[in-house]
Formats: sequence, structure tokens, C-alpha cells
Amino acid sequence: MEQLQTQGISLPRLGLGTFRMQGDACRAAVESGLALGYRHLDTAEMYGNEEPIGAAIASAGIPRGDLHVTTKVWNENLAPDAIRRAFDASLKKLRLDQVDLYLVHWPAPRMNLPAMFETLMKLKEEGRTRAIGVANFNVALLKKVVEEIGAPIACNQVEYHVMLDQMPLRRYLTAKSIPLVAYCPLAQGRVASDPALATIGRKHNATAAQVALKWLLDQNGVAAIPKASRTESQQANLDALKLTLDDEDRKAIAALPKDRRCVNPGFAPAWD
Ligand SMILES: NC(=O)c1ccc[n+]([C@@H]2O[C@H](COP(=O)([O-])OP(=O)(O)OC[C@H]3O[C@@H](n4cnc5c(N)ncnc54)[C@H](OP(=O)(O)O)[C@@H]3O)[C@@H](O)[C@H]2O)c1
Repeated sequence: MEQLQTQGISLPRLGLGTFRMQGDACRAAVESGLALGYRHLDTAEMYGNEEPIGAAIASAGIPRGDLHVTTKVWNENLAPDAIRRAFDASLKKLRLDQVDLYLVHWPAPRMNLPAMFETLMKLKEEGRTRAIGVANFNVALLKKVVEEIGAPIACNQVEYHVMLDQMPLRRYLTAKSIPLVAYCPLAQGRVASDPALATIGRKHNATAAQVALKWLLDQNGVAAIPKASRTESQQANLDALKLTLDDEDRKAIAALPKDRRCVNPGFAPAWD
């Protein structure tokens, strides 16, 4: 699997998202993903599934160095002490000594950015997380973190898919060599029923979802973390990597609407 190099870590470009996976079903889905070859898992304290993911990791017996695990601190826990407590709890649930990437899940209205990043950078220095990053940060916030605070951000995880333009953010991240990790890369499954993507898929003997995923992964500095609980979908998403899209396909994808958000970032209505 191709990897992105960022702030000293190798991030597999296709990861397994786990939002809304719970309990034994989550454990089974993650075990299935690991058995198929996924080596990048995305979770968060807010998902309430770090325990089953920890159990799946323990039972898979994959060498720790071959596995990338991202978790996130929720935005109610951004005071330094609260970050520490949340981090310790996440690590314990995941049954790990170290995570690979620890993200601020979501900006909070009155967050103290310098204090937050001082704490996160300490966790990195202590070797408890190999890298730190953010999610759902806009360009203005990123500028503060990167240019004023100088925090070594390994990624910004944001919603990105064939039906959402993220050009201003992509331009900034590219200029700073910071990867964009695309969440909702399948627009929460909606891309699967898009006729234009299905037409492109038929040409390549692929599905609409595979076309949408490959379009993302063809872009420099972009990783994607589709959530798939079924083994067939997990395999289909891995198989998407083999697809070759051409200029005609990219033109048809460029013509799709680009204003469809699945997750409300607080400044724009979500797609219903
Ligand atoms: N940082 C953040 O604020 C944030 C926000 C949202 C999400 N995320 C992360 O990003 C991950 C992905 O986002 P998401 O789960 O919201 O949406 P998504 O990955 O765009 O879509 C998931 C949906 O697509 C379906 N699916 C997966 N592979 C498919 C395929 N090959 N063909 C057809 N359908 C397919 C899944 O079905 P089945 O599960 O039934 O297989 C599920 O219903 C999350 O799980 C989470 O880890 C982060």
C-alpha cells in the first residue's frame, strides 16, 4: 500500500474509518479489515469504539510497526489536563503504548490554541504519540497553528469527496506539505447511487464507489478513510486502488456538484 510521509510517520493512503461501528460488530469489522490488509485505522474517543478496536488489534497479532492507528481528542477536552486524561483513556482502551497520530477532532469556540498544542507536542516528545494533527480546521485556524505556533501538524482530516470542493484548503495544505486525510470519502455511501459515477465505473468494470475513491487517491498528498463494515465493501475499496481513471472520467467528475456536505462544520448546512 502506498504511504504518505509526514512528520516522521508513514501514513497508508487508504485507511479504514470506524465511525458508527460499535461493540462486537466493530471488532469483527476491524478484524476483517486487518485480515484483508488494511494497516491504517481511524477512530476517536467520541466514537466510543476504541475498546473493540483495541481488542481487534490485539487478536490480529500484526507487528505494531506495520500498523497505523489514529485517534482523536473531542473538543470538550481541549484544556491541557483534559487532553492528558482523554489521551490516557484512549491509549488504555486501544491497549497500546503509543498511537501513531493524535488529532484535535474539532475546533472549539474558546480553545486556547497555544496551550493545546504545547500539550500535544509534549505527548509527541514523550513518545506517546508519534505525530499530532488536526481535523476540521479551516485555513485561518491552520495558519495560526502552522505559522504562529509552529506545531508539526502531520495532517488535516476533513470532509472531501467527488461532490465537495476543498480547493482553498488543498492549496494551503499542499503549500505547507501537509496531507489532507479525506473523511466521508464516499459521501457517507451516497456516491454509490450516482449515475455519472456508475457510468464511469461500467467503462472500467468498477463500481461508482470505487471510482469516487480512486479519484481522491489520484491526488497528491491525499489519503482516504472510507468506513466499510462489510468485508465485500472493504475489499472493493482496496480494489479501487487498481483502477485507472482517464481524462474523460476526470472531466465528468469535475462536472458533478461540488457543494454537498455530509457533516456540518458549523459554517455551512449539511447535505440531508
Ligand atoms: N474527523 C471528523 O470529524 C470525521 C467526521 C466524519 C467521519 N470521519 C472518519 O471518516 C470515516 C469515513 O466517513 P463516514 O463513515 O462518515 O462515511 P464514508 O466512508 O463516506 O461512507 C460510509 C458508508 O459507505 C458505505 N460503503 C463503504 N464502502 C462502500 C462501497 N465500496 N460501496 C458502497 N458503499 C460503501 C458504508 O457501508 P457499510 O458500512 O455498510 O459497509 C457506509 O454506509 C469515518 O468512519 C470516520 O473514521 C471523521
